[in-house]
Amino acid sequence: MGKIFVDACLGLETPYTPVWMMRQAGRYLPQYMEVRKQAGNFLNLCHNPKLAAEVTIQPLDIVNVDAAILFSDILVVPNEMGMKLEFLAGEGPVFDKPISTEDDLDSLIGGDEAASKLTYVYDTIKILREQLDARGDNKALIGFTGAPWTLATYMIEGQGTKTYNICKKMMYSNPELLHKILKKVTEVVKLYMEKQIESGIDVVQIFDSWAAAIEPSKYNEFSWSYMVEIADYLKSKYPNTPIIMFPKGVSAFVERGLVYGNFDVFGVDWGTPMAMAKEKLGDKYVLQGNMEPCRLYDKVATTQCVEGIHSIMGGKRHIFNLGHGILPDVPVENAKHFVSECQRVSKK
Ligand code: CP3
Repeated sequence: MGKIFVDACLGLETPYTPVWMMRQAGRYLPQYMEVRKQAGNFLNLCHNPKLAAEVTIQPLDIVNVDAAILFSDILVVPNEMGMKLEFLAGEGPVFDKPISTEDDLDSLIGGDEAASKLTYVYDTIKILREQLDARGDNKALIGFTGAPWTLATYMIEGQGTKTYNICKKMMYSNPELLHKILKKVTEVVKLYMEKQIESGIDVVQIFDSWAAAIEPSKYNEFSWSYMVEIADYLKSKYPNTPIIMFPKGVSAFVERGLVYGNFDVFGVDWGTPMAMAKEKLGDKYVLQGNMEPCRLYDKVATTQCVEGIHSIMGGKRHIFNLGHGILPDVPVENAKHFVSECQRVSKK
């Protein structure tokens, strides 16, 4: 029996529409909080393959999703390129020395040397591959990376930002430097994802969480083209490993039918109507998504949305998910309800 999630990524018929949730391993689960406490802090948890594997598996057992997503963070990549990273309580990720010049960039490690430092990620995947195979329930393992653009926003701003003013200043006044940064990150990401595949993941997801920060006429140049390059590289070596592309907040591109790219699945964010995504992209990609994550606060609002999405997609070329990550204060009960409703309405 094939894995239902992998089959769905490839557009094959499945007994029901599989479901997982972005950020499904995390703070809404008391069991996650317990393991994080044991690790000391979030980064220690990412660096500890045994514990990282444990929290990766938790949502399979607790909320019954059809795929596990590797527990790690997109920012371990710039961290291993040499940027010191801290996660401050209440503030999120902070790099102590953001990149603002070519010298800053040159001081970072690139290519295979950087990708080879992420051994704790590959070790986590190897543990998970064994554990998942031993379960025999055919649940899939998703590996992931941040998109070069989304990673670059943190590398240039030094932290999360509402305005992206520092990286946009670079985009318009020194685009050559921004492209150099994006190229260097792209090289590392290609090798990083190759090593994740070699270690045992079933599917790749690329998170372009901050896609919406770029004006539409510049999106291809500064983000999409780099992801196409990554996908072309991976597909040339691993044609059977599905790739999910999740660019958040890009309904303007979807509307214009932005279609080119060697991806199998397009992750639809919650601001993009599913019917429009289906019309514009449904022939080219399997669609993943797209319930507004805050609907999880209410079971009736959840069921209505799940039924609505299912009636649009008709159980074909679709994977259920949220339109962005689950928030930490969502009751576990409600997350379980979402998953079981997706499986119920789509059962053939
Ligand atoms: O369950 C999963 O989805 C797997 C693990 C995962 C994490 N981060 C764990 C995490 C994944 C896939 C990510 C990706 C990630 N990290 C993204 C892209 C996805 C998205 O949500 O758009 C981004 C932008 C980041 C960067 C990042 N990491 C931020 C901005 C923050 C702080 C904000 C927050 O949610 O607290 C993190 C920390 C982080 N990454 C946590 C977790 C579980 C919370 C850390 C904690 O336990 O305190």
